[in-house]
Amino acid sequence: MDSSHVEKDLTDILFTEKQIQDRLAEMAGEVERDYAGKDLVIVGVLRGAVMVMADLARSLNRHVEMDWMAVSSYGSGTKSSGVVRILKDLDADIAGRHVLIVDEIIDTGLTLSWLTKNLASRNPASVEILTLLRKPEALTMAVQAKYVGWDIPNEFVVGYGLDYRERYRNMRDIGTLAPHVYS
Ligand code: PRP
Repeated sequence: MDSSHVEKDLTDILFTEKQIQDRLAEMAGEVERDYAGKDLVIVGVLRGAVMVMADLARSLNRHVEMDWMAVSSYGSGTKSSGVVRILKDLDADIAGRHVLIVDEIIDTGLTLSWLTKNLASRNPASVEILTLLRKPEALTMAVQAKYVGWDIPNEFVVGYGLDYRERYRNMRDIGTLAPHVYS
């Protein structure tokens, strides 16, 4: 979906489809250099990371295994509960392999902080994080991301995998949701 179809729901466009593709291509270049000659598994965190995984993987000019995890952050409650549950685990055995977790956003950091520890306990050669977006002002947990597309303000962003009540995930651009939509 082009963002023009939901123009009234957005206060601005933060990143266009072109900007996102260009940044992912740059990050893919860094990943290629850093993991040259190494066995690499990229792990997408469902569901928001689907777009980033698809575009990052296609920008990587090398073999890469793609696997997925689904976690329920925070149960049915709010982010403050700090509870993370595995809904779908990896298919791959990652022991001795290099793992790169791919997500579209680090908000409080709870999900990826927990996931990094969980995957590290499976004896991989390494575990690192690639995220398209990060909200430094919202971070409550220490999370070291090796690759960050952009740091953004603590605003409600949608598009390119990011949803509000399951809508806007399929928008090509990333935009800021207008308060009248969620208030
Ligand atoms: C989003 C996003 C991250 C997480 C970040 O997923 O994909 O995994 O939240 O937030 P945190 O840093 O505060 O933990 P969400 O739980 O909304 O699920 P979704 O990917 O299915 O939209």
